[in-house]
Amino acid sequence: MSLGRVRFCNPIIMGIFWAIWVCPWLCLASPGNLHGNKRNMQWRRSSASKEILQCNVYDGEWVWDDSYPLYDSGNCPHIRKEFDCLKYGRPYKDYLKYRWQPKSCDLPRFDGKNFLTEFKGKKIMFIGDSVTLNHWQSLVCLLHSAAPQSEIVQYTNGSITTYTFQEFEVSVIIHQSMYLVDIDDEKIGRVLKLDSIKSGEIWKNMDVLVFNTWLWWYRKGEKQPWDYIQVGEEIVKDMDRMAAFQKALTTWANWVNEDIDPTTTKVIFTGISPSHYNGMDWNETKVTNCSRETEPVSGSTYPSGLPQALYAVKDVLKTITKPIHLLDITLLSQLRKDAHPSSYNAFRGMDCTHWCVAGLPDTWNLLLYTALQNWNSIHTTV
Ligand SMILES: *[C@@H]1O[C@H](CO)[C@@H](O)[C@H](O)[C@H]1NC(C)=O
Ligand SMILES: *[C@@H]1O[C@H](CO)[C@@H](O)[C@H](O)[C@H]1NC(C)=O
Ligand SMILES: *[C@@H]1O[C@H](CO)[C@@H](O)[C@H](O)[C@H]1NC(C)=O
Repeated sequence: MSLGRVRFCNPIIMGIFWAIWVCPWLCLASPGNLHGNKRNMQWRRSSASKEILQCNVYDGEWVWDDSYPLYDSGNCPHIRKEFDCLKYGRPYKDYLKYRWQPKSCDLPRFDGKNFLTEFKGKKIMFIGDSVTLNHWQSLVCLLHSAAPQSEIVQYTNGSITTYTFQEFEVSVIIHQSMYLVDIDDEKIGRVLKLDSIKSGEIWKNMDVLVFNTWLWWYRKGEKQPWDYIQVGEEIVKDMDRMAAFQKALTTWANWVNEDIDPTTTKVIFTGISPSHYNGMDWNETKVTNCSRETEPVSGSTYPSGLPQALYAVKDVLKTITKPIHLLDITLLSQLRKDAHPSSYNAFRGMDCTHWCVAGLPDTWNLLLYTALQNWNSIHTTV
């Protein structure tokens, strides 16, 4: 019996709760759906969902698809200067044409109208670093392209920016947080507190939470945004960074275990987004950046193997007792050495860390959409 049921054992509350929450999630994904409107029929007819239940959607390869990209980035006015590759003159456009093909099933096509309708009144928050911002921007563009006339109201408060699709009352929110845990200004300086996660109070109010953190854990010198690390009562100048990462994730996992009500909030953790600066990783020994990469690595394996950080993530996710989903984009992103901005951004700086929008993050969102559609069946994939 899930915790949610224990809390909502009063039959009246249970009934209301069922009607408002469980039914829409369950019924949309289940074949025996009573709400036989056109939208759901389409979902049913595709029979994708049944198939997907037995399929590891993260095991597959990139295939050419003439119908891609999913939208024209020129029509999305919300793309930041860092990610708007076509606008900044990227000449090789093949990167837009690849579709992720799982080995044993087909993914549904991203249906932005369906997404907006299904998530009416809901708040979807992405929490993490600039790669997470990248991910969020792609979703904004995917939804905008599905409903270009729908007004988007934008609101920023500190590190949180909310885009609300007015007509659908859907809010897609980014909370920029490099480490998920806190950095506090104290007398001695900026302290990264591996045991402290104050933002949980904000996150609890969301319907969908998409977390990520990785990029900043190995930053040193000028780029390191803290002076000390605190673990428990102990304050240190530095420590093993992988251990720090794992400690912070554990704090986050404990927060999920204690504070998330799975009947109201779905929790997703996005895997490790890889960079492409070291050609050794993909068997091109002398290459030191992604500037000449025009096609994905073919097949389903990446020469360097999976990053250690992903194993750390999986270890921590195993300790979570609530339903959560690992959006396991690591391997499929490793294969996409061609999908970074390289120097096609407003700054002309070499960027093989972030991703062009439109581009790879659209696939992350397609997989996010698939996970949410099939929530009751596929949440434990760790
Ligand atoms: C902005 O965020 C702060 C901190 O989370 C909160 O206390 C404040 O109420 C917010 N302001 C508005 C206008 O929402
Ligand atoms: C990488 O190079 C090694 C050694 O030359 C080779 O065995 C392997 O098949 C290559 N892998 C890919 C993906 O090209
Ligand atoms: C990127 O790589 C190319 C060739 O692989 C090299 O000529 C160029 O200097 C590199 N650029 C940067 C900014 O590292």
